[in-house]
Amino acid sequence: MLLLTSLLAVAVAAANVNAQSATPIYVDPLVPTGTPLVGNYTGPLRPQIHFSPPVNFMNDPNGMFVDAEGVYHLYYQYNPLEAVAGNQHWGHATSRDLYHWVNQPIALFPGNTSEGIFSGSSVVDVNNTSGLFPDQDNGVVAIYTLNTPNDQSQNLAISYDSGYTFEKYEDNPVLTIGSTQFRDPKVIWYAPTQRWVMVIAYSQEFAVGIFTSENLLNWTEASNFSYHGLLGLQWECPNMVEMPMENSTETMWVMLISINPGAPLGGSITQYAPGSFNGTHFTPVDSVARIADFGKDNYAGQFFYGIPGDQPQISIAWASNWQYTQAVPSGPLEGWRSAMSLPRINYLTNATRVGYRLVSLPYDLSPVISSEPLQSNDNLGNGTVLVDFTDLESKVIYFELNITNIPAVNASGTANFTFLSSITGESLSGGQYLFGDTPFWLDRGQLRGFDSDPFFTDKFSTNVLYDPETSAFTMSGVLDRSLFEVFLQGGEQSATITLYPEQPLDIMVLRTAGLNEGVGVSAAVWGLDSAWADYTDENGTVVGNVTTGAGSSNGSSQRMKRETVLGRSKRLY
Ligand SMILES: *[C@@H]1O[C@H](CO)[C@@H](O)[C@H](O)[C@H]1NC(C)=O
Ligand SMILES: *[C@@H]1O[C@H](CO)[C@@H](O)[C@H](O)[C@H]1NC(C)=O
Ligand SMILES: *[C@@H]1O[C@H](CO)[C@@H](O)[C@H](O)[C@H]1NC(C)=O
Ligand SMILES: *[C@@H]1O[C@H](CO)[C@@H](O)[C@H](O)[C@H]1NC(C)=O
Ligand SMILES: *[C@@H]1O[C@H](CO)[C@@H](O)[C@H](O)[C@H]1NC(C)=O
Ligand SMILES: *[C@@H]1O[C@H](CO)[C@@H](O)[C@H](O)[C@H]1NC(C)=O
Ligand SMILES: *[C@@H]1O[C@H](CO)[C@@H](O)[C@H](O)[C@H]1NC(C)=O
Ligand SMILES: *[C@@H]1O[C@H](CO)[C@@H](O)[C@H](O)[C@H]1NC(C)=O
Ligand SMILES: *[C@@H]1O[C@H](CO)[C@@H](O)[C@H](O)[C@H]1NC(C)=O
Ligand SMILES: *[C@@H]1O[C@H](CO)[C@@H](O)[C@H](O)[C@H]1NC(C)=O
Ligand SMILES: *[C@@H]1O[C@H](CO)[C@@H](O)[C@H](O)[C@H]1NC(C)=O
Ligand SMILES: *[C@@H]1O[C@H](CO)[C@@H](O)[C@H](O)[C@H]1NC(C)=O
Repeated sequence: MLLLTSLLAVAVAAANVNAQSATPIYVDPLVPTGTPLVGNYTGPLRPQIHFSPPVNFMNDPNGMFVDAEGVYHLYYQYNPLEAVAGNQHWGHATSRDLYHWVNQPIALFPGNTSEGIFSGSSVVDVNNTSGLFPDQDNGVVAIYTLNTPNDQSQNLAISYDSGYTFEKYEDNPVLTIGSTQFRDPKVIWYAPTQRWVMVIAYSQEFAVGIFTSENLLNWTEASNFSYHGLLGLQWECPNMVEMPMENSTETMWVMLISINPGAPLGGSITQYAPGSFNGTHFTPVDSVARIADFGKDNYAGQFFYGIPGDQPQISIAWASNWQYTQAVPSGPLEGWRSAMSLPRINYLTNATRVGYRLVSLPYDLSPVISSEPLQSNDNLGNGTVLVDFTDLESKVIYFELNITNIPAVNASGTANFTFLSSITGESLSGGQYLFGDTPFWLDRGQLRGFDSDPFFTDKFSTNVLYDPETSAFTMSGVLDRSLFEVFLQGGEQSATITLYPEQPLDIMVLRTAGLNEGVGVSAAVWGLDSAWADYTDENGTVVGNVTTGAGSSNGSSQRMKRETVLGRSKRLY
């Protein structure tokens, strides 16, 4: 499959060299321009409602923005040639619902073999502040780190077609300090001062630089936010985002910093700080270190540009960990490595005892829920829900468990779930204790597809309190073949983990026991639709937004006709 892909890529690249001979935009002839790489999304480890790249290696989400037509653009750190990191490009995919993704042609290419197009962000320059878009209000500017052996500098790429194709800005770089540890610019618009604001990591100095600009071209240093919370060994991929506080008309600002290596559980993780922002300075509410996920596979999350700060924000993170991402078995078995997290809805809440928490919940799942629950019981008591989903082709499960009327004193009982393989008996399990400080545990250690890596930590736990006033506890989760995400107490805590069973997990058991008399238990388990199946052709291939009608290209003046081939697309476009 890899060989076939490469041969196809050579043919496609050759055609495009002719079409674009005036401005060669890539070096490696194996990397296709103007057409997406094709993908096989049928493998037993391939997530079906999460984004993953068509082939080879992906890491950080980049450049996320929502355009005026409501299309979400996701770019990503991409090595199109191998299933390990390196050779960084910006891959690209689009979606209207954040579950059905259309693979687009690669958006940004390194200029030569010693360059890497590292992480960054995108904005829509609606008012033409840059002067680069005299005739349009949908010009897109990508701000990325160009990595070279001597320098990490900040560069712009310009798109006149709403983010599908880019040209590099002619006066790059726009910001450089001559450092090899200065990266991952995330730019937003701050209306009160009518300025663009960039946050960027001085990675090994444990500082986030805040820069401002009137035009995206000239940047002024405004302040630093440094030595806050956890250090690890490097800070990366900062985000600063305005979002609502639950039950409040006030918004707050949140600074998110990704740490790698040196996370408390090893490798990579993201911490955040709620606070305020006045156009130049971010001021945290306190000095607390808050971690965004209690699993080990949630890193470099980014927020979509273009969502007003008084609305819940939408984020997507890379669902892996640098400690083992380049060794996981989806590479040799299926030719790809790494998926993104579920799209998440985010806002702040005031959680019991601990105060500010970043709520993280799945974005509206209804586009992938087309049927009634496989099982549901709104009066489970001490009971068991058994779901055999061997016949569910997607193998994607969503479940909810609500427990109500928990007594304020002497609460007791447990609620556990187990996903099993009917073939091997391997399992993924987790559970909640409903007493004391309500510990929750998660165990991916009973799976056999990737069990010898010493960094592939197999057990996780946290504590999340229920609100004594509502006396209620909620848990929900999504299993998507090689990914599992769990959300506790309305998303006050969440965990993202990868998992590699030898055979598919296809049985679920949800069990409660020892609950106090009068406690209410409501549970439901859904089988979700595969989003990728909608785009898969008769040969099992996802081709993405391909260029057709190009034929043998005869010069750069020929405009290629684009046509979308989406297999048996059911509901989109
Ligand atoms: C797609 O992947 C599956 C599982 O890895 C494999 O069985 C199938 O042959 C592949 N299809 C193609 C067209 O390569
Ligand atoms: C690659 O491009 C950089 C500019 O980004 C240039 O400085 C360097 O000399 C080039 N290297 C090669 C091997 O061409
Ligand atoms: C665009 O201009 C309007 C009107 O001056 C202003 O309110 C808005 O903040 C500007 N937005 C951007 C992104 O430039
Ligand atoms: C702004 O940046 C551009 C190039 O990106 C440069 O030509 C211009 O001189 C700069 N202007 C100022 C005021 O620094
Ligand atoms: C922003 O906050 C900083 C730090 O508190 C302060 O020095 C600065 O004057 C403030 N700027 C404005 C415009 O209020
Ligand atoms: C927000 O308000 C709702 C409705 O009154 C309530 O159920 C919920 O507990 C409140 N949340 C917080 C964090 O106060
Ligand atoms: C959270 O709620 C507690 C208890 O009601 C209150 O004392 C505290 O001030 C609140 N904190 C925030 C950040 O709203
Ligand atoms: C849940 O798992 C814990 C830990 O293994 C165990 O103590 C408890 O009995 C289990 N509860 C149920 C309902 O299976
Ligand atoms: C659960 O079982 C215990 C006995 O083990 C019983 O006392 C309690 O009432 C039951 N709880 C519910 C909610 O049915
Ligand atoms: C669980 O509670 C949430 C509200 O908190 C509700 O939307 C959902 O339908 C409930 N699920 C079940 C299975 O009762
Ligand atoms: C599927 O594969 C067959 C055999 O290689 C080929 O003839 C056919 O065109 C392919 N179908 C699509 C939609 O590419
Ligand atoms: C395919 O790409 C073109 C731009 O080249 C874009 O206009 C069109 O919306 C894309 N179609 C889909 C379904 O993404």
